[in-house]
Amino acid sequence: MNFYLQWIDRLPSTNTFLKERLELEPQLPSGTVVATREQTQGKGRRGREWLSAANENLTFSFLLRGEYDPRTLPAAAMAAAISVAELLALEKIDADLKWPNDVLVNGKKICGILSEGVPGGIIVGIGLNVNMQRADHIDQPATSMLIESGERRNIDDLLEKLLPILSARLDEWAQGGFSKVRKKWEANVPNIGKMISVCDGDAVREGLLAGFGEQGELLLQDEAGTVSPVWAGDVST
Ligand code: BTN
Repeated sequence: MNFYLQWIDRLPSTNTFLKERLELEPQLPSGTVVATREQTQGKGRRGREWLSAANENLTFSFLLRGEYDPRTLPAAAMAAAISVAELLALEKIDADLKWPNDVLVNGKKICGILSEGVPGGIIVGIGLNVNMQRADHIDQPATSMLIESGERRNIDDLLEKLLPILSARLDEWAQGGFSKVRKKWEANVPNIGKMISVCDGDAVREGLLAGFGEQGELLLQDEAGTVSPVWAGDVST
């Protein structure tokens, strides 16, 4: 797919901005990307915030149009997480993937992804911690590329490197669904075959992480050996 990139110096949230732009311009093309250097009211999953001071982190969103079966959509964000892990590998930082679409380094979150359904497609927002020096103001263990490598990076350059990788993975996903990217996903998931718990609201389920299904759903095996799909939740080990 092709991307059409626009940088804006400061925005409350790139996801919200792109959603509002789509309302004004319903013909906005698939692949429209909005990136900001400073995000003041960014949104995370489950109502959390995702703020970013000027030039600290990569924060951007893109529009993916298409009449996709809603069940296939979570895997688009998984394809995005794979792409970020590939970018980090190019930058000599070893990353793990955490279902549904977090990227971790040494057990700490370095990237979060928020996908939201819009008429005729989805908006996928990516936040990658790049030059953030401290992560102790965040309500979960977090890290950044600077913390992990000691090097500051230019966020424009990183986005230029990430977009072609993202394009390749999303093309694979669009052609063959999650099955097409499953190997790359599983290669970066360290806890397959281990005990995990999945928390969805008040419901907590425990079992063995057996792998991932055709649409990217997590497969949880109970003590009796029965494998059942999990479509949403937060995983802990
Ligand atoms: C998470 O909670 O893990 C998801 C975080 C997603 C943050 C990104 S930053 C760019 C885009 N704009 C937003 O408001 N949120 C996403």
